[in-house]
Amino acid sequence: TILVLDFGSQYSHLITRRLREFNIYAEMLPCTQKISELGWTPKGVILSGGPYSVYAEDAPHVDHAIFDLNVPILGICYGMQELAWINGKQVGRGEKREYGPATLKVLEDSNALFKGMNDSTVWMSHGDKLHGLPTGYRTIATSDNSPYCGIAHETKPIYGIQFHPEVTHSTLGKTLLKNFAVDLCHAKQNWTMENFIETEIKRIRKLVGPTAEVIGAVSGGVDSTVASKLMTEAIGDRFHAILVDNGVLRLNEAANVKKTLVEGLKINLMVVDASEEFLTKLKGVTDPEKKRKIIGNTFIHVFEREAEKIKPKDGKEIQFLLQGTLYPDVIESISFKGPSQTIKTHHNVGGLLENMKLKLIEPLRELFKDEVRHLGELLGIPHDLVWRHPFPGPGIAIRVLGEVTKEQVEIARKADNIYIEEIKQAGLYNQISQAFACLLPVKSVGVMGDQRTYDQVIALRAIETTDFMTADWFPFEHSFLKKVAARIVNEVDGVARVTYDITSKPPATVEWE
Ligand code: XMP
Repeated sequence: TILVLDFGSQYSHLITRRLREFNIYAEMLPCTQKISELGWTPKGVILSGGPYSVYAEDAPHVDHAIFDLNVPILGICYGMQELAWINGKQVGRGEKREYGPATLKVLEDSNALFKGMNDSTVWMSHGDKLHGLPTGYRTIATSDNSPYCGIAHETKPIYGIQFHPEVTHSTLGKTLLKNFAVDLCHAKQNWTMENFIETEIKRIRKLVGPTAEVIGAVSGGVDSTVASKLMTEAIGDRFHAILVDNGVLRLNEAANVKKTLVEGLKINLMVVDASEEFLTKLKGVTDPEKKRKIIGNTFIHVFEREAEKIKPKDGKEIQFLLQGTLYPDVIESISFKGPSQTIKTHHNVGGLLENMKLKLIEPLRELFKDEVRHLGELLGIPHDLVWRHPFPGPGIAIRVLGEVTKEQVEIARKADNIYIEEIKQAGLYNQISQAFACLLPVKSVGVMGDQRTYDQVIALRAIETTDFMTADWFPFEHSFLKKVAARIVNEVDGVARVTYDITSKPPATVEWE
């Protein structure tokens, strides 16, 4: 195992991610980790970048015991400045911030760290720089703006680099990390998702202990299902999953989730039908942000109330809250100021931690979406669920434009179900990132048989995207759209017309509200 000590750079998690691409296991811990409390001996240590200045009074510093481990050490950006600070304090502000690509000039071809990397592009992102060589070090690489782009200790396997090898803009950065981990640290390349399951289950058991209970919300989506299944594997029925039916879920969703999770995956799940409560609170509300707030707050209220009911029989409190946070959700990396800073209070669950005094468990926080899907497949979660499109927390409430009523939700949900059914049938589901139907609050004239109709409009949306920040609409065949439109108008009462949304994001968003 490689130990990554995190000084708070936004890229820190990418270091472990890159190493994992070579099947090397790395564990990331806060930079203030005491080596004596580690409980295991790393094969090598990487000090990450960070937003601080090593010479600032409140700057975080590493436990000097890392040097007694006698294993290779690599300092990246702040990590290198930290090495320099410890050995002569030659660090200060650069004349200007250096941000962007630079060409690496390797001075010692024999150096294993830079093997195969001469003249490659590396990514710089720093304000501070070395003003001189630390005591006992030599220069092993330069760039136009950084005379100390790479440094190495004269006698020990300690290295510092000014650039960020973990970002893809450093074209051969992965090679450097591999050189370090495999050639210099002799780390084993045996990390696999199967091993991840095993170690994560052990970690959960150790963290939760032999008696404590864990609670978590499931949504029917891949993240919460994978997290719940992992938790069930670790502690069985001491994990309590709750699905809150908020009245704005997809068609038959609560029943389907129950079937899959309880019967198929043996997850200890309780389904709470709170749809009336949500719909009552949403009465008369048309503003999208108000809808979101009401749904978020009502969710917290219902979840807390239901959690009371499943209190463990021995009078103990539930102590942990499971959250399916993924790496991209973790906007702040583990801060040296303590783990409480790492919590992103996102979606619905943020408020629960404070109100219920729960500790957070996030078994997926190191993983990216594709890794979670892989994990889900290994845990035996049905393929359809693993590859499901994302669904927003406020659900169909933000897909029924205007006031949300039971009748309106029913129309939107039926149209959506037909649309998704047809997409799957046409074999297009996996090519599309997200697709759904929206119900517009306008009426339009139509004719059915000899009857004049005067009903609402369904807008269909389907997008392709990699990150949901930008998106393009999906170019369906006309025959496909024709079929879906005909089915929706014929099968869903209350719809007179169907349109297809051909706006990209930006300027439009994915959702209509
Ligand atoms: P937008 O509409 O912002 O959507 O382009 C980007 C992605 O975010 C989802 N989305 C939400 N998810 N709560 C959620 O959990 C929300 O309030 C919310 N609003 C949008 C949307 O479905 C898309 O995947």
